[in-house]
Amino acid sequence: MPGITGPSDYSKEPIRHPSLQINSKEPFNAEPPRSALISSYLTPADLFYKRNHGPIPIVDDIEKYFVSISGLIENPKQLFMEDIRTLPKYNVTATLQCAGNRRTAMSKTKTVKGVGWGVSAIGNAVWGGSKLTDVLELVGIPKLTSTTKFGGKYVEFVSIDQCKEENGGPYKASITLSQATNPEADVLLAYEMNGEPLNRDHGFPLRVVVPGVIGARSVKWLEAINIIAEECQGFFVKKDYKMFPPSVNWENINWSSRRPQMDFPVQCVICSLEDITTITPGKVKIGGYAASGGGRGIERVDVSVDGGKTWIDASRCQKSGTPYTADDDDNSDKWAWVLFEVTVDIQQSTEIIAKAVDIAGNIQPEKVEDIWNLRGILNTSWHRIQVQVTDSNS
Ligand code: MTE
Repeated sequence: MPGITGPSDYSKEPIRHPSLQINSKEPFNAEPPRSALISSYLTPADLFYKRNHGPIPIVDDIEKYFVSISGLIENPKQLFMEDIRTLPKYNVTATLQCAGNRRTAMSKTKTVKGVGWGVSAIGNAVWGGSKLTDVLELVGIPKLTSTTKFGGKYVEFVSIDQCKEENGGPYKASITLSQATNPEADVLLAYEMNGEPLNRDHGFPLRVVVPGVIGARSVKWLEAINIIAEECQGFFVKKDYKMFPPSVNWENINWSSRRPQMDFPVQCVICSLEDITTITPGKVKIGGYAASGGGRGIERVDVSVDGGKTWIDASRCQKSGTPYTADDDDNSDKWAWVLFEVTVDIQQSTEIIAKAVDIAGNIQPEKVEDIWNLRGILNTSWHRIQVQVTDSNS
């Protein structure tokens, strides 16, 4: 592919922030300390979790780089960066969350397959770029189209990285044409993250951002967009990122019996304390993040400091100085997380719990056992912290 290469080895990986916790070195998968997530509403790019399935691509000549758009359309096209930049630029604040966030905790119930993740495979950024709706109009697909004249119903995004799961082929994913052509869905071809050009780890020079959907569909290092009749047949759509019931194991799994996961469910995590924390008696600030998929706002975050007997309504915030409303209005970023906070008095050892409710009334499940699945995705069970209180005089 002119201008960009997907290397076959890891000798040219970018330099990363030293405080990232590395969950797998090759491919590079890492997350920040949880406290970093609540230091700011927008997660700095160097601390944003990094989820890769192969070596990071290298751009050798940005002038030569283009995205080809083809498939079931009349006029296939090649779009260079300058073509993309001529389209109106949108800034969309959106939270990306890996479906495997909190997998390590699920594995404690019964082993699951996949890279282990703590609670920080999530981040929030302002993504700058062109709307996919505008790009698709350039190849003759109007807004709000569900099927093209030639039977195209899905939009497939193809990368350039070499992934083991694809036998050395590129990472791929798809979304429906209805979502892709809906301007309200805010699907972007992003070239900026938090006002800076994307860095290599996050998809330089161009990535897809599908707000409200598991991170797996936001393809980095975009090489091609194909308009197709069926969903993408790639590994990560057909044989991964699907949620099975707890009864399914590696002997009886039937991958085609389940649809690929798209929206992520309501989630919240306490980030101001580690899972096991020792404190002295007194006031404790409990803070964390809450997010839900599909653009659903966060209606409530309940915090308990007595193991779930009683609950306190935590305060929610996105941008400082603007009161958060869970409604889709100018006061809120509908695709973004909220940070929650409550200060409590703790005098004895206890269990602190947080659970969120979204605007559809969806609530997190109490026990991880009830949602256990063999790939360890979507662990959204109540987040629990064990607090040991030591005598302040000792
Ligand atoms: N795109 C490509 N080309 N290769 C990948 O390995 N990983 C996906 C997605 N896009 C991936 C990709 C997954 S599983 C997630 S969760 C997000 O990218 C992570 O994006 P980030 O590394 O920018 O946080």
